[in-house]
Amino acid sequence: MKFDINLKRERGSDYSGDCIVYFVAQNDDETPIITHIPDLPEAPFSDFQADEGETQFFYSGEFEADRLLLVGLGKKEELELSQALEAAASSVSPLEKLDIEQAAVVLPVELFENSEKLAEKTYLGFALAGYEFEQFKSEDNDEDDDEDVELGEIMLLFEDGRRQTSIERGIDSGKNIARAVSLSRDLGNTPANQMTPIELEAQAADIAGSSNNITLNVIDGDQLKENNFNLIRAVGQGSEHPPRLLELVYEPSKYQQTVVLVGKGVTFDTGGISLKPSKKMGEMKFDMSGAGVVLGLMQAVDQLKLPLRVVGLTPCVENMPDSRSTRPGDIVEGYAGKTVEILNTDAEGRLILADTLSYASEKWGEKADYLLDYATLTGASIVVLGHAGACLMGNDDKLCESLIKAGKTVDERLWRLPLWEDYEKKIESETADVKNIGGRAGTIIGGTFLRQFIDEEKFDSWAHLDIAATAWGMKEKSFRPEGGTGFGVQLTLEFLRDL
Ligand code: BES
Ligand code: MN
Ligand code: ZN
Repeated sequence: MKFDINLKRERGSDYSGDCIVYFVAQNDDETPIITHIPDLPEAPFSDFQADEGETQFFYSGEFEADRLLLVGLGKKEELELSQALEAAASSVSPLEKLDIEQAAVVLPVELFENSEKLAEKTYLGFALAGYEFEQFKSEDNDEDDDEDVELGEIMLLFEDGRRQTSIERGIDSGKNIARAVSLSRDLGNTPANQMTPIELEAQAADIAGSSNNITLNVIDGDQLKENNFNLIRAVGQGSEHPPRLLELVYEPSKYQQTVVLVGKGVTFDTGGISLKPSKKMGEMKFDMSGAGVVLGLMQAVDQLKLPLRVVGLTPCVENMPDSRSTRPGDIVEGYAGKTVEILNTDAEGRLILADTLSYASEKWGEKADYLLDYATLTGASIVVLGHAGACLMGNDDKLCESLIKAGKTVDERLWRLPLWEDYEKKIESETADVKNIGGRAGTIIGGTFLRQFIDEEKFDSWAHLDIAATAWGMKEKSFRPEGGTGFGVQLTLEFLRDL
């Protein structure tokens, strides 16, 4: 993270760093509500309206800090916790631009009843906006070096000692969630020469190794072969980095429900023999983002000590063209015995997920309540929603609604697409049970293909999240950087914590 975030019991006016920050809500008549800012210097507020995300600096008058920054939350009547996150995130770049080294924000406890959640969201907003991926920048190559001043610390301030415990608890969960999102972002951002299938395994081993409640089972090599994970093998056989299926199980001492999470882990997607055009092919290092979400979630559910059993399954492969690669037209019998005509080797995500979903159905179907899968599956999903949200499909209306609602609260939007029977005809093959492409409505075709490999008698609550449009960001939000976004982690945690 670019800066530290700490907590301190202190009055805003006594804080002696460079800048003191207040979040300000708005009256119905579009004037800022500033009654909670004692000793506010006489200032012309004419142009600060406290609109959502609006920021304005003031010299601070009576305050110990040199400057005062007001950040708008929008209308008081419509205030939601996500706005605290957004306000925190949108204050970072103004602070950086003004060469401020130390800043503090007064937690607006009078605006949000639940101070635990307020602390969590505020922490998260700063942490998510402060994310950076600098692993591959050598010291003397760091652009920021010539700028002498860097934002080094943000202090979260509160006054009322009775709130301390709940605020600390909130910060603790904020930290855990931020760590999980950052892990997913890191995994997506790490280039494919570093983030190979075996490296994903090493990451999973780290997660399991630092927990008492997580075990890791790796299925690779001969085990993949003997157990007929032939679709995973078919996608991975052109690469010198051999495929593997990772199975993480988080089992706390007390739980009632079990959730299975499946994530596409294509560490690089060239398209295989159905080679992709070279333009933007480099982005395909993020084709393991589904697996990245699942790994981040496994870490988070453990650190948040959620009282649920959570299974994480990630098939990890590299999709390469080679003399040993799968050819368009090849027919492969998958784990569950269904044969697949692989007409396009670039529709590889659904192949590795098919074997994984079959395995999940067989092994966990009877024991689990929910099955969720995450995949950068189709470019077509970008045609559907642009980059503004991810496509959701599933066989359970209630589950889909819960996920959409969870997504709304954390600003990770989902939009549901139908899985009408019509689409099943599109993937009928002349010579095999199914084929892996099916023409128009590519995102739905992808979901429809996956559905063929789920035992729906056991898994009547399944959802598929096609995150191709949102896993890789273009800095459209202050809390979502360029590159890997970790999209899906927060919405899923929201859903899981609600169970
Ligand atoms: N990983 C891609 C999907 C993708 C494409 C994600 C562009 C983000 C940006 C996936 O494996 C893929 O190649 N899908 C094909 C499917 C097609 C061959 C049916 C696609 O979307 O073109
Ligand atoms: Mn592909
Ligand atoms: Zn892919």
